Amino acid sequence: MFDEYKAAITSQVAALSGASPEVIASAIEFPKVTTYGDLAIAVPRLRVKGNPVQLAKTWADEFKADDQIDSAIATGPYLNFRINRALFARKVLTTVNSEGPKYGWTDTGAGKRVIVEFSSPNIAKPFHAGHLRSTIIGNFITNLYKAHGWETISMNYLGDWGKQYGLLAIGFERYGSEEELVADPIKHLYDVYVSINKDAEADPSIHDQARAYFRKMEDREEDALALWQRFRDLSIVKYRDIYARLGIDFDVYSGESQVGEGMHRAMNMLDEAGILVEDKGAVLLDLEKYKLERVLVKKSDGTALYLTRDIGAAIERFETYNFDKIIYVVSSQQDLHLKQLFKTVELLDLPYADRFQHINYGLVKGMSTRKGTVVFLEDMLRESKDNMHEVMRKTEEKYAQVENPEDIADKLGISAIVVQDMMAKRIKDYEFNWDRILSFEGDTGPYLQYAHARMCSIERRVEGTVKLNPDADFSLLSEECARDIINLLARYPDTLASTLQSLEPCNIVQYIIKLAHAVSTAVEQLWVVNQPQEIAEARLMLYHCVRVVIGNALTLIGLTPIERM
Ligand code: ARG
Repeated sequence: MFDEYKAAITSQVAALSGASPEVIASAIEFPKVTTYGDLAIAVPRLRVKGNPVQLAKTWADEFKADDQIDSAIATGPYLNFRINRALFARKVLTTVNSEGPKYGWTDTGAGKRVIVEFSSPNIAKPFHAGHLRSTIIGNFITNLYKAHGWETISMNYLGDWGKQYGLLAIGFERYGSEEELVADPIKHLYDVYVSINKDAEADPSIHDQARAYFRKMEDREEDALALWQRFRDLSIVKYRDIYARLGIDFDVYSGESQVGEGMHRAMNMLDEAGILVEDKGAVLLDLEKYKLERVLVKKSDGTALYLTRDIGAAIERFETYNFDKIIYVVSSQQDLHLKQLFKTVELLDLPYADRFQHINYGLVKGMSTRKGTVVFLEDMLRESKDNMHEVMRKTEEKYAQVENPEDIADKLGISAIVVQDMMAKRIKDYEFNWDRILSFEGDTGPYLQYAHARMCSIERRVEGTVKLNPDADFSLLSEECARDIINLLARYPDTLASTLQSLEPCNIVQYIIKLAHAVSTAVEQLWVVNQPQEIAEARLMLYHCVRVVIGNALTLIGLTPIERM
């Protein structure tokens, strides 16, 4: 949005200062306060000989206003530029209004395909905070790539294979209940798993039985596989349900069990490349040269390991999907594992070795429901919803107006969790805090939803009396708070584009926070009701565009924008 203004500034300042256009273009920034201008240059950044304060003054005096730039003002060593506001406001607002849900999108990824692997819980084990973060961040990354024209494949790589499924099968014989399995497979399988593990502590021979059972699974014996297949299928049905609540629908449910002969091919290739070493019948991958340790890839009984499967999966994924990029959204606790995986792919000399990326994230501390510490996603969502419902009930008047409080409480509860998660850089650990995240004040999910709902309510209030007019007189939006909002709206596409590089959800969340702050100031000053028609129309378009952009940004981070709360 600012490109033509930056170009206009660059060409004049180049002529005045003698600095190169590239240096000037990269020195143009958005000042924190817009009292003196919308764009600014810190003169020292141009590295021109002379006193920066003096230079700023001289250039400001000599700068000639044109169609794009209204004025240049020097403040200390800064050169501030005021762009042609009326023109700019029209351009920004009409663009947001006409592009609507696609405002900010690009097609830079057209024709390219990305696999985003995320969430990836382990069947019969808790869906813990790490999985929740992967789910939230992965969904965001998928949406972001879509917004840039990429074809995306969202993939869930379930932990659905290994000796523990032998253990689970034996446990099911003792503790399994058909009824409970069907009613809540995730919970029931976990309970069975916990019970059989207890038994196995007292009676270690159970582990041998489990190993033998898993051996049968590895050998593809039908009976052994049938039970496991049911566990998997039923769990996926349940997962789908829970993910749907978060607005997520995976394109592919893959998993450790789905890795096939690619794994054996990979092992042969590694062998040929001479990076495998044998040790008492077991096989290790030697990555010591790269400071990535020696890793077990085949046990002496022939079973493959986590890394082995990942290597096989990588090869098979490329063969199946021919991806241009693949992103693994996995906790930083597995940094070493992913480094080992990517290094191996590189050593295999696969032509697509540079298409792999690990997106990691830090720990969440203290995430638990009130009742206990073991956390399943569903319990988390329920707890958040219930807590939110309680908060809503406290303001009786408003509560009475909400049509479907259950649904709104659920959406707000999810917003609370997601926004807290995306507040800071991914790699930062954070402390889970119910009280803070459920508040309507401060930078929380409910607060951002409230900003959106407020815009909707302004639109509702004047429906039929003030029209949404793209030809309104936008020069009437001259107040500082209106100007700040328009500048922010204009920056959304750039924010989106740079976030595709950083893949940091906090860039988007921080953006929404700024916009929400800007409108909460504006609504006190810029009224739409009881105003002269031209003013009302200009302001209505402003608020409408804010709603569009907050709505787009909330959708991007995986939330459903709320219209009334
Ligand atoms: N299921 C694994 C866990 O819970 C995460 C899988 C990550 N993805 C991968 N390709 N290794 O720790």
